[in-house]
Amino acid sequence: MHLMTVCLGNICRSPAAEAVLTARLEEAGLDDVTVSSAGTADYHVGERPHPQSSAEGESRGYAFTSRGAQFDAADFDTADLVLAMDSSNEEDLLALARSPEDAAKVVRLGAFASDVEETGVRDVPDPWGESREAFVAMYDQVEDAVAGLVAAIEQGRVEEVLAAYRAAR
Ligand code: 4NP
Repeated sequence: MHLMTVCLGNICRSPAAEAVLTARLEEAGLDDVTVSSAGTADYHVGERPHPQSSAEGESRGYAFTSRGAQFDAADFDTADLVLAMDSSNEEDLLALARSPEDAAKVVRLGAFASDVEETGVRDVPDPWGESREAFVAMYDQVEDAVAGLVAAIEQGRVEEVLAAYRAAR
């Protein structure tokens, strides 16, 4: 199984979600699940994650190895799940989908959050240009949703969550 996390620039949120997912999957012993990330835009191709994102992540014990990449429609061929950070990323990804099968792989990470029943699916807001607090809040939100995603993988519930998500889209 291959998971992709996707935001706009691929320097703040999606590298954070990639790093958190990689750590949690390893802890869970889910060796056959791989993770990569991309941005819908090409602004930061080849760049390291934003220093505020990697600094907060490193303080929480995560490692950052990937460089900025732009999402390409061909990524739908290798990804089983394309995790958008916000609704705008989701719209951009759906516009790139070549088939209903591609589109069916797109879900916002917030679909796996612990409070989704109460709040509905929430976006992970863009922290770029914001204060440290925004990066702290972003990680808190990402860690919560990643825990839900890893639990769903372990329990074989991913397709169930996706089906409900698509029905509401
Ligand atoms: P990200 O944040 O989508 O979480 O990586 C952003 C990074 C850069 C830009 C926008 C959002 N930008 O416009 O360059």
